[in-house]
Amino acid sequence: MSAITRIGVLTGGGDAPGLNAVIRAVVKAAWNSGIETVGIEDSFDGLLESDRSRLLTPRDVTGILRLGGTVLGTLNTGNPLSSDVITSDGPRLYADRVIEMFHKLGLGALVAIGGDGTLDIAHKFCLLGMPIVGVPKTIDNDIVGTTNCFGFDTAVAFATDAIDRLHTTAEAHKRILVVEVMGRYAGWIALYAGVAGGADAILIPEIPFDIGMVAKRLRERDKWGAKFSIVVVAEGAYPKGGTLSLIEAAHGLASERLGGIGAQVCDALAGETGKETRHVVLGHLQRGGAPTSFDRILATRFGGKAVELVRRGEFGTMAAFAPPDIIARRLEEVVGKTKTVPMDFDLLATARALGVTFGD
Ligand code: F6P
Repeated sequence: MSAITRIGVLTGGGDAPGLNAVIRAVVKAAWNSGIETVGIEDSFDGLLESDRSRLLTPRDVTGILRLGGTVLGTLNTGNPLSSDVITSDGPRLYADRVIEMFHKLGLGALVAIGGDGTLDIAHKFCLLGMPIVGVPKTIDNDIVGTTNCFGFDTAVAFATDAIDRLHTTAEAHKRILVVEVMGRYAGWIALYAGVAGGADAILIPEIPFDIGMVAKRLRERDKWGAKFSIVVVAEGAYPKGGTLSLIEAAHGLASERLGGIGAQVCDALAGETGKETRHVVLGHLQRGGAPTSFDRILATRFGGKAVELVRRGEFGTMAAFAPPDIIARRLEEVVGKTKTVPMDFDLLATARALGVTFGD
């Protein structure tokens, strides 16, 4: 096998703080081992035309460690592999065009940074013969095989800060404040930010809730003198016997958009308790801004590991965090699965022991 002299790097899926830190680490680690890096714009779409990528030198990535977003752009669409695309060379099958351009750009390997969707696409391209190494990203922290994804710690820190601020106004007005956080099918952000922020109720997708049980807990607080309460709701939480609250159903290549459960819980608690309630949706604020130092380090370690895996020719793998180590996982062990909060997780038990209700 001839040594790889040029690799591509792309970012796919929703952005997460730390993407730029991975790009920087990949470019610098590759450069220092004699490998050029080409930055591909807008996920795999950047491989449809030769003018949607650019050479990245260490000079180009200086100063991006602390920046949110991604200097390469990203796309949050479903799996486009079997779609038809119109290119400057005529109509093509998406997958064929991407592979054709990968070779035209002289790439020996690709580092694909993304969530479950992007890693699934990467895995499918691997099966078609493209040498790819994945890097897991999502603020939801729901990718299997890695204890943490970068972006999660930053999202939790932001949500915790928001809960801290809501505490003071909730207490001043003796209100119930409901905070809706991200977390499509897993309640990691709600659980961690809820516990870190001292929430009284935490509603997560893994535990369908009974609003009556939540109200009961909040009334108990009133009895012993805490006249305010904080309720943290993951966007993917839903009532027992109910369904996910959607802003928009999935259509074409677009995934379903979740939202609205915070407002519903707020209204229901007002009815059940007779107290004044307000709700806040933290939304994309959780994805923006500078990554925490934890996320910068994790992202940097992932980037370094990805280049090491490329150099070793270990394709079809993903860098993963298995504390204290960064290891390689096979993509087929990871894709198509969701890492949800396990019911025997000690943090659930501890939160319950402290009086937090999960509405069950
Ligand atoms: O998967 C990460 C995430 O932020 C989810 O928590 C959220 O449901 C989704 O992305 C939002 O996606 P979009 O930015 O495309 O609306």
